[in-house]
Amino acid sequence: MNKPDKDKKDIIKLNPGNIMEKIEFEFAKDGPILVKKDAKVEYALCRCGHSTKKPFCSGAHMSSGFKADSSTLELKG
Ligand code: FES
Repeated sequence: MNKPDKDKKDIIKLNPGNIMEKIEFEFAKDGPILVKKDAKVEYALCRCGHSTKKPFCSGAHMSSGFKADSSTLELKG
């Protein structure tokens, strides 16, 4: 679910100066925070605390028994 070629600095490049783009944070049920830009998943961020590739999701939430509700946060410029 993560993009290993990306590093932490890339997170701040999601919206470099263009605040009109739609950024959405989808809190996946029992899984990561999916950061979407224009409906495309850009990053999957760990929220279970068990990732081996923090801050990104490594898929470890599936074997850790992590449970969480789903929700969505949308940011618009
Ligand atoms: S949410 Fe996937 S490893 Fe933490």
